[in-house]
Amino acid sequence: MSLELLDVEKRLGDFYLKGVKLKLSPGDTLGIVGASGSGKTTVFKILLRLLRPDGGTYFLDGMDAFKMKRRQFSRLVQGVFQNASKALNPRKKVEFLLREPYLIHRDLEVRVEELLEEVSLPPQILGLFPGELSGGQQQRVVLARALALQPRYLIADEPTSALDPTVQVQILRLLKEVQRRRNMGLVFISHDINQVLYMSQRLLIVLSGMVMEEGRLEEIMKNPSPYTLQLLSPRALREREGGACPFYRLCPSAGPKCKQELPPLKPVGKEHWVRCHYL
Ligand SMILES: Nc1ncnc2c1ncn2[C@@H]1O[C@H](COP(=O)(O)OP(=O)(O)OP(=O)(O)O)[C@@H](O)[C@H]1O
Ligand SMILES: [Mg+2]
Repeated sequence: MSLELLDVEKRLGDFYLKGVKLKLSPGDTLGIVGASGSGKTTVFKILLRLLRPDGGTYFLDGMDAFKMKRRQFSRLVQGVFQNASKALNPRKKVEFLLREPYLIHRDLEVRVEELLEEVSLPPQILGLFPGELSGGQQQRVVLARALALQPRYLIADEPTSALDPTVQVQILRLLKEVQRRRNMGLVFISHDINQVLYMSQRLLIVLSGMVMEEGRLEEIMKNPSPYTLQLLSPRALREREGGACPFYRLCPSAGPKCKQELPPLKPVGKEHWVRCHYL
């Protein structure tokens, strides 16, 4: 069983998501990290079928995800969005919001109480409107809704970015715990590499719509590419005119080849791939 993208491409105006490949098994967490505008939300939208790629394939447990019935798809994949207050209908009480997923999936047992307990919310909250909840509580409701149909894969795009730092930590911890307990596959997207390191066993590091580095966390940490190094410990870098490699403009290790030739994504170790001429 796996969630898999193969050579997925998407053009959006000037932006081009180029040949993205990823694979996730239930029980694993894949972190996607990269600078703003690198294409993370574009990948998120494709994984939730909110956006159709121009090329490539999306497989879910061996089936073409875009050919699946909506009902079947929503039992396999659910998303957690960045902004909880926008993801919840302000005119509906929490009780309705947690029952809503079961309206279409009538064969599933309604488990509102268990869901609440799982995301550590008190039962009194059922009678409240989203606007009466704190940001952290709203995000817990969003997570509970995503869990209602017991999906095999959960895709989260910057799930804590609208929250205070202390609440961010609580939500990350909860998400990690839930992922483990339910043995789900989690795609965790953030521009904050520290969050991604905390959450993930595997990383996909993107820039300008391209995968720059990919692999097991320990392998990447042993020998990170110049771009990943910059994400890990940001330094003031001297800027030059852009070149073929998306990181050429800022890369402290760039050579003449990087200006002319886009490096391919190549294996540099066991379960570690890098797009860099000099690694
Ligand atoms: N519908 C669209 N039309 C044109 N360009 C778009 C469209 N949607 C996104 N883009 C562009 O595609 C690029 C990638 O956007 P995306 O939202 O995937 O980046 P991101 O990595 O999620 O960034 P952030 O960290 O800021 O959330 C951006 O330059 C964005 O402006
Ligand atoms: Mg984004």
